[in-house]
Amino acid sequence: MTYFMPETSQQTEKDRLNYQHNMMLHILGGRLGQAPAGSQAQVLDVATGTGIWAMQYAEQHPESTVLGVDLSIAKPQELLPENCQFQQLDAENGDFFDDTKAVMKKAFDHMQPGGWIELHDPEMRTIANDDSVKGTALEEWVEMTVKGGRAVGRDMLKSAHYEAWLNETGFVNVQDAKFQLPINEWPKNPNLKKVGAIYKHNILELVESLTKFLTLAGLSDAEAEDLKERMRKDIHNPQIRAAFPLHVTYAQKPFDGSYAHL
Ligand SMILES: C[S@@+](CC[C@H](N)C(=O)[O-])C[C@H]1O[C@@H](n2cnc3c(N)ncnc32)[C@H](O)[C@@H]1O
Repeated sequence: MTYFMPETSQQTEKDRLNYQHNMMLHILGGRLGQAPAGSQAQVLDVATGTGIWAMQYAEQHPESTVLGVDLSIAKPQELLPENCQFQQLDAENGDFFDDTKAVMKKAFDHMQPGGWIELHDPEMRTIANDDSVKGTALEEWVEMTVKGGRAVGRDMLKSAHYEAWLNETGFVNVQDAKFQLPINEWPKNPNLKKVGAIYKHNILELVESLTKFLTLAGLSDAEAEDLKERMRKDIHNPQIRAAFPLHVTYAQKPFDGSYAHL
């Protein structure tokens, strides 16, 4: 299995993931998820990271049993809620996590009828309502990172397909809620401005970990360093009014056959 980010057990990565979790809470209006799932007896948090989502879900749902799994378990320092456990596990058993459709199928096969699945994932591409991102180092960095990912079979734009893949897998009531992650505080809307302020910090932390994709895309070490330096300046520039698309995609396993129950 190939995972390209720093190990979740590293303190800096733990801090980044907890920070990212708070950003997601802000985007989702304080809710841990979007699916109209109601109370679920058993909840599995795949790629739980620091476990913050699983612990908060367990606290909010004492009637549920929550299991968080990850390649690398960063043992939470907090006192665990009684209904929450963690386990080290490769959700793919040796293949690339890039085969998200295979993970969806595995989830489908093991879920209870009527249960819900939900995925939170951004796309590695920028969107803008104007030309402010055209010709920038940010644009170049995004293109090169995606190209480097492709070179090792990692599709960084795949979350755009989650809705179709969930439908093809047999799930029903599939919804793809689209959000924006502004690169900095450029938006006028106070809520988006706040998300931008948080996301700016997150991207600046991410740039270093993604360096290997720039070299995989063919850049020399010196070219990669130069691009990162120019890209970091763009992230601080409020004149560049770009955002990354974020998909929150959820669906339900049918109760039987085609019967969809909401
Ligand atoms: C972006 S973090 C997850 C953040 C977390 N869900 C949260 O809400 O804070 C991605 C996590 O995926 C885990 N991961 C990647 N591939 C995996 C796999 N095949 N099986 C289990 N976990 C995996 C990584 O170890 C990392 O902790």
